[in-house]
This record gives sequence, structure tokens and C-alpha cells, in this order.
Amino acid sequence: MPKPSPFQRAKDAPSLPNSTVKFILYCLARFRGWIMLMMLLEIGQATGSILVPYAIKAIMDGVAHLSGTNVLESLREPLLLLVGLNVLEILSSRASGAVLIIMGTRLRKNTTKLLYSYLQYHSPRYFGSHFAGGLAHRISETATSVNHITWLVLCDFWPVLITFSVSVALLLNVHQGLGLLVAGWVFSYVSFSYWLATRCQPYAQNYAAVRSLVNGKIVDAVTNILNTKLFARLDFEREFLNDFLETEAETGRRTFWYMERIRWFQFIAAALLKIGIVYYALTLWDSGLISVGEFTMSMGLALLIISDARNLTRRFLELFEYVGNIANGVETIVQAHEIVDKPDAVPLKISRGRIEFRNVCFAYDENKAVFDGLNVVIESGQRVGLVGFSGSGKSTFVSLILRNFEPQSGQILIDNMDIQQVLIDSLHEQVSLIPQDPSLFHRSLKENIGYGRLNADAEAIAEAARLAHADEFIQAMPEGYDALVGERGVKLSGGQRQRIAIARVMLKDAPILLLDEATASLDSITEKAIQENLDRAMGRKTVIAIAHRLSTIAHLDRILVFNQGRIVEDGGHEQLLALQGFYYRLWMMQAGGFLPEEAESL
Ligand SMILES: Nc1ncnc2c1ncn2[C@@H]1O[C@H](COP(=O)(O)OP(=O)(O)OP(=O)(O)O)[C@@H](O)[C@H]1O
Ligand SMILES: [Mg+2]
Repeated sequence: MPKPSPFQRAKDAPSLPNSTVKFILYCLARFRGWIMLMMLLEIGQATGSILVPYAIKAIMDGVAHLSGTNVLESLREPLLLLVGLNVLEILSSRASGAVLIIMGTRLRKNTTKLLYSYLQYHSPRYFGSHFAGGLAHRISETATSVNHITWLVLCDFWPVLITFSVSVALLLNVHQGLGLLVAGWVFSYVSFSYWLATRCQPYAQNYAAVRSLVNGKIVDAVTNILNTKLFARLDFEREFLNDFLETEAETGRRTFWYMERIRWFQFIAAALLKIGIVYYALTLWDSGLISVGEFTMSMGLALLIISDARNLTRRFLELFEYVGNIANGVETIVQAHEIVDKPDAVPLKISRGRIEFRNVCFAYDENKAVFDGLNVVIESGQRVGLVGFSGSGKSTFVSLILRNFEPQSGQILIDNMDIQQVLIDSLHEQVSLIPQDPSLFHRSLKENIGYGRLNADAEAIAEAARLAHADEFIQAMPEGYDALVGERGVKLSGGQRQRIAIARVMLKDAPILLLDEATASLDSITEKAIQENLDRAMGRKTVIAIAHRLSTIAHLDRILVFNQGRIVEDGGHEQLLALQGFYYRLWMMQAGGFLPEEAESL
């Protein structure tokens, strides 16, 4: 696949970076203020809880040296401190809860929008090689992970960092040895937890992959439940699923056992710290180096550190998971755009609709050329039919005019303007296509037809539908023009879908009209009826119509016969018949419009 070498992105697309960390920072950039606020609030919350042991120390020391009778009076200050700390903790934690709600929802919305806008500018080739459902899932997953990672850092790592450093500072203040002991413990604990998380990650990843595989199997089985019933294979399916469930359970067991080992480490490390600190603080107290209050404070801080540290490995694992999700989304979506407007692109102005292929060489894959130096001119207002064997390049010809793909060399000109030098939107506004297998939005019929001209009123929409002979079947539906058509239009028959596609193109009324087997799904009678309206709608437009059923194009001004990417015959219907070549043979085989087997059965 030819890849554009320097990373290029469409002018109107958001300038998303294609590395994970930069992408996260890009998404967060406009929330700087909120993030600062959140960090401050988290500091408030963490300080509130860390200083509680300090207040208790002051109370204890006060109690130890109590001389007067009124306890509350003499412990007034430390008690007020305790109350103040609790109020601080409550207020800052709830305020950070509010920020989380306000900023979180905006952040998610914003990331989703950025990714979707970027995705819109990808080429048809890109969408041809990625599943729509997969892309939608990626966007949602990436946006969710950006949110999760932000909270992870702001509400987990950041407070833990504060707790650890403030505790160590407080302890250093009490006694250097105590402070160093705890600092050493914290350092080894964090490093070891991180290391364990990196070791555990493959297990967790594998487990997630197996879970999603099993989920896929269940979806497939449910989708095909009618087959299961039809073949009386309920037992078989249960058994089939059971094997996968067993694998899932086994992978789960392995992952959880590993996590269990991590928990062993955590509990032992916690116990060591508790015992170590009790022992050490006791000896210090015994030698009169610290007070009772300081002893209690050390214990309180140790417990606080332990409770904060407990989930660190789990948090690291989550961090890896979110980073992985984002990396995946960025890699899939933030690729170079293949087809973009040139910096100096100008709007295309079609006045006559003359189309010219000048030495066009094109290949989907490097080693298999579809066109090799194709030259052809379609004069303005000419109505041209394309015929030829399947795979001879007809649809590709039309795709190139729409700039869905770009030729490797040569030029395609419309009214003497190279379409590579014009704005893509302006090209698409003035060229209409009716594809062979049109797909529709899961929206009402009215909206689907109105897509051709967004400000069209109900009357214009109904008129277009009448011209496309869609009016009758739409009227016959209980909801009429408000009926929904199902995903991609599945609730309509192929021919009905095609008529909606014709109607919306009639409404668009562009000066160049491309028809790729536009009426192939219709019965001959409906086709004939529509053909007349189409002919009228063609008016003075330049028209290129692809058809296998030759009767649909025989009356056009000119016919081009394609064979292996070359135009082998070119001329009017009678002229080509007289040549007695390809076209003649095709025509004879179809006996004036019917395939031989159909002709025999008549
Ligand atoms: N998206 C694609 N990627 C790679 N190769 C493609 C793609 N589309 C078409 N081709 C190949 O290009 C060649 C020309 O295909 P094209 O669709 O233009 O033929 P066609 O004349 O329209 O055939 P049909 O009458 O069956 O519609 C074929 O060999 C086909 O396999
Ligand atoms: Mg085709």
C-alpha cells in the first residue's frame, strides 16, 4: 500500500499528536486550570488526613502533661486543630468530587470529538480496511482511558506522593532514624510494586484478551440462535461455549494467583513496617529520645502510609492498561491522512463539466496496475455509458473522478482544473454518485433523502422521491417519510434502498452525475420507469453510467468499453455494433438487454 511519506493531516482536522504521551497532554491542555485546582484540592484532602496523627500527638502530649482540671480548656488548641483538619478534609474532598464531575464529562466529550473529527478526514482506503464498529469502539475506549488516567494520576498517585513525602518529613522532624526507616521502606515498596506490576501485566493482558474472545463467541452464538434452534444444536452450543469458558476460567485463575502473590508481598511488607516501627519507636521512647505523643504519631503515620500503599500495584496495572488502550487508539486513528487538500487548493467551479483523464496510471497495490497511462476526454454534457467485464476498472474509473483514490501519475481534470489541486469538498458538492449498493443512515427516510440538500422542504423531498419512484413504497409504510430504515438501511429491500439513493442524488442536482449500476437491483419495469426520470434529470449534465445490463445505456451519447483497464472500444451504440467487436458480442449475448438464460426462460 503506498504510504504518504511525511506525516500529513487534513487542514481542518485537529492537530492530534501521534505519540501516546503527547496525545494525552494535548487532550488535557485546555483543562490546565481545572487540573491545577484539582491538585490543590487533593493537597488539602491529603494534608487533612496526614495531620490527624499530628493533632493526636499534640493531644496525647497534652494529656501526659496535664496539670489543671479542665481537660477541654487546656487541650483547646490541638482539639481545634483536629476539628479544623476534618473540616478541611471533608470540604476539599467534596470539592474535588465536584471538579471530577464537571471536568470529567467535558474531558470525555472533548476527546471523543477530537478523535471523531480526525477520523472523518481519512480516505476511503482507510475505511475499507477498518471495521466501523471497531473504530467506534476505539474512540470510546480511548476517551474513557484518557479520563481514567487523569483521575489515576490526580486522585491516586498525587495524593500518595503527598502522603508519603509529608509523613517522611514529619517523621524526620521527630527523629532522623525513624524518618529514614520509613523513607527506605517507601522507596523499596514503590519500586518493588512497580516491578511486580510490569511482571503481572502480560497475565492481565492475556486475561482481557481471552475475555473479549469469549464475549465474541457469545455474541456470535446469540446472533445465530435461530440456526442453533433450527438444527437442534442447543446442547452442542453449550458444550462449544463451555470450552471457551473453561479457558477463560483457567487464564483468570493464573492471573488471580499472581495477584495473590502480590498481596502476600504487600501484607508482609506492611507487617514489617508496623512491627519495625513499633520496635524502633519503643526503643527510642525508652531512651527518652521521643515523647509518647511522638510515638503515637509515628504509629498513626505508619498506618496511613500502609493503607495508601496497599493498592499501588493494582494502580500501576491500571495505568498500564489505560496507556495501552490509548496507544492502541492513537495508533489506529491518528495515522497520516492519505488524501488531503493541498495548501494552495482552490474551490472547483464546474461550468461545463468536461472530464479528462491524462496519462493516468493507477494501482491499488503497487504490483497490480488497474490503469496504465489512460487517456480519455468526456465532453461537457456528454452522457457516457461504461461497459466491460467484471474487474475491468469501471468502478475504479469513477472512484478516481471522486478522488477517493489518487493516481500514482497523470492527471484528472474537470473543466481543465486538476482535481488534485482543488478543495475536496468543492469537488464532492458538484459531483454526485449513485453507488451499486448504497447504504443509508439509520435515520428517517425523510432525513436520508434530504441529505442531498439539507435545507430542502418536505415538498421537495416528496418530489425527489416521486421521481425516483420511491414515493409509492414510502406512502405504503405506516410511518411514511418518518420511518427509520435500520442500520445501513437493512429494513429496506435492495431496490428500495437504491431508489432512496437516486432520490437524494436528484435532490442534490449536481452538474456531474456518476451512476455505478444505479438501477441494477431493480426489476425491469421499475427500472424502465425510473430511467425516464433519470434521463430527464440528466438534462445537460455530464453523466457517466456503468451498467452490466446494456439496454440501460444503449441510448446514451457514447459508450466506452473497458477491458483490463484499457478502453478498447469507444463510440455510439450503432457504431460499436457495426465494429462487431467486444460490445457487439456482449450485446448479442444479452439479446438486446436480457441475459441468455433469462431469454431462454421467456
Ligand atoms: N479497494 C480495492 N483495493 C484493492 N483492489 C481493488 C479495490 N477495488 C477494486 N480492486 C481491484 O481493481 C480491479 C478493478 O476493479 P473495479 O471495481 O474497478 O472493477 P469493475 O469494472 O467495477 O468491476 P464490476 O463490474 O465487477 O463492478 C479489480 O481487479 C479489483 O480486484
Ligand atoms: Mg464495479
